Amino acid sequence: MVAALRVPGPRALWPVGQLYQFRRDPLTFLARLAREYGDVVCFKAGPQSIYFLNHPDHVRDVLVTHNARFKKGRALQRAKRLLGEGLLTSEGDFWRRQRRLAQPAFHRQRIASYARVMVEYAEQTSARWRDGQTLDISSEMIRLTLAVVGKTLFDAEVESDADEVGAALTEVMNLFGYLLFPFAELLEKLPLPPQRRFQRARAKLDAVIYRIIGERRRSGEDRGDLLSTLLHAVDEEGDRTGMTDEQVRDEVMTLFLAGHETTANALTWAFYLLAQNPEAESRLHEELGAVLEGGRPPTADDYAALRYTEMVVSETMRLYPPAWAVGRLSLEDHEVGGYLIPRGSLVLVSQYVMHRDPRFFPDPERFDPERWTHEARSARPQFSYFPFGGGPRRCIGEGFAWTEAVLILATLARRWRLRLIPGRAVEARARITLRPGKGGVPVRVEGRDK
Ligand code: HEM
Repeated sequence: MVAALRVPGPRALWPVGQLYQFRRDPLTFLARLAREYGDVVCFKAGPQSIYFLNHPDHVRDVLVTHNARFKKGRALQRAKRLLGEGLLTSEGDFWRRQRRLAQPAFHRQRIASYARVMVEYAEQTSARWRDGQTLDISSEMIRLTLAVVGKTLFDAEVESDADEVGAALTEVMNLFGYLLFPFAELLEKLPLPPQRRFQRARAKLDAVIYRIIGERRRSGEDRGDLLSTLLHAVDEEGDRTGMTDEQVRDEVMTLFLAGHETTANALTWAFYLLAQNPEAESRLHEELGAVLEGGRPPTADDYAALRYTEMVVSETMRLYPPAWAVGRLSLEDHEVGGYLIPRGSLVLVSQYVMHRDPRFFPDPERFDPERWTHEARSARPQFSYFPFGGGPRRCIGEGFAWTEAVLILATLARRWRLRLIPGRAVEARARITLRPGKGGVPVRVEGRDK
């Protein structure tokens, strides 16, 4: 009998200990569970039972086939305090309507027009760099992707407000980590300094966003950016109305947050890995030399020819997936791999752990863009790699992110080679995204035209 099978997993006398390990270093903790207990693992984090699924078929089962039996996990529900009812956090019919309304902003032609912004801003970054200079590539990439999302969302020079908006966003993102605590609802009500800072930072962002929405509504102008698409969207399949200011604010805040740190991390890790893999770096430079004749900057039309650049990004997101896990809450009893997952359980799938599974990626720690040739890809099960999730809640910004990561990498790598600073350790931290720890990724930039 299915239900009689006990799900494998550690039996801690003190579940708080598991919660502590999970929170302190989730990547090591989850990788160990998968290694020791297999494809379906149950562990306790405080009072909550967590079912950790570690096979591509199980990932498809939860995200695609039976997605209606699940809703978003706790962390995203808590994230509503910042993101309101935006695409990432909303559920059901409301989410479906918002997804329909936002979809046109991500059409292929729109993304092609955003590509110009991506390259132009990468060129500005490149123009600031000096040969021999030391910088933190992680802050550079955050600054760049923030400017890109600001320009494509608002057609606004967010970079001119970048320091203020950037500081508020960074503050919000850092404090956002508190929302993952099981007692976050209580903490939120206490007049603690981090809570006050969070509320202040959120208020600052709200003020900027509502100001821009107000100006745009008054002018009625279609500027061809994401905001215009959201403001002019009408639900033809539903009640033929559009979004209120508050709904637009929630979507804008969501796109702002979901749309920059993830891609910035992908780019940061790509430079980090290239610096340690000279062979892959040379192949990348060869491709850039061949495709971008005379060292010209790339355009959206070059994307298809930048095959190896894309393979580098794919392999980077295998080893360092910016979204390192996806959580869901089960709405009813559900069977996976012969085990029962009771209603009300938290279900977790982890890109970080799956992408390093030797069953699908032999010698998993090795950085090898060749894993992404057409043949190698089609030999693997679909959900052995899922940096953008899957099913109806799959990332809406995926096309945007690929274009941005490939074109920015091409623009910068055609001019610069980045070298790690010896003796400066870099570690991956699983926060909301998989980002480098304190100190970022210090590098020395070297001009390639020397
Ligand atoms: C490398 C970059 C990116 C990665 C790895 C990434 C990853 C993901 C993942 C895994 C999800 C699904 C979460 C879940 O199922 O719970 C998601 C959803 C989402 N992402 Fe991304 N993302 C990236 C870039 C972007 C960009 C550039 C944007 C917008 C400009 C964006 C906007 C969103 C939104 C709005 C959702 C919610 C979609 C929905 O539920 O309808 N993301 N992303």
